[in-house]
Amino acid sequence: MARLSAKYNIPCEASLETAMPCGIGACMGCTVKVKGTQGQESFNLKRVCKDGPVFPLEEIIWHN
Ligand code: FES
Repeated sequence: MARLSAKYNIPCEASLETAMPCGIGACMGCTVKVKGTQGQESFNLKRVCKDGPVFPLEEIIWHN
């Protein structure tokens, strides 16, 4: 879906599920990698429980 939405320039979001040890944003146990702002190699971690669970597909780093 991420590849298709990028290819056809169609905005799309995903609602993610991960293990959530605390569920309140304190433990960082539910993070996903998202693209950073410091170049192609940079990334940030976002908490699915607090920052999501819905993220734009183009923001998520699906591999690595
Ligand atoms: S479950 Fe602990 S930060 Fe999300």
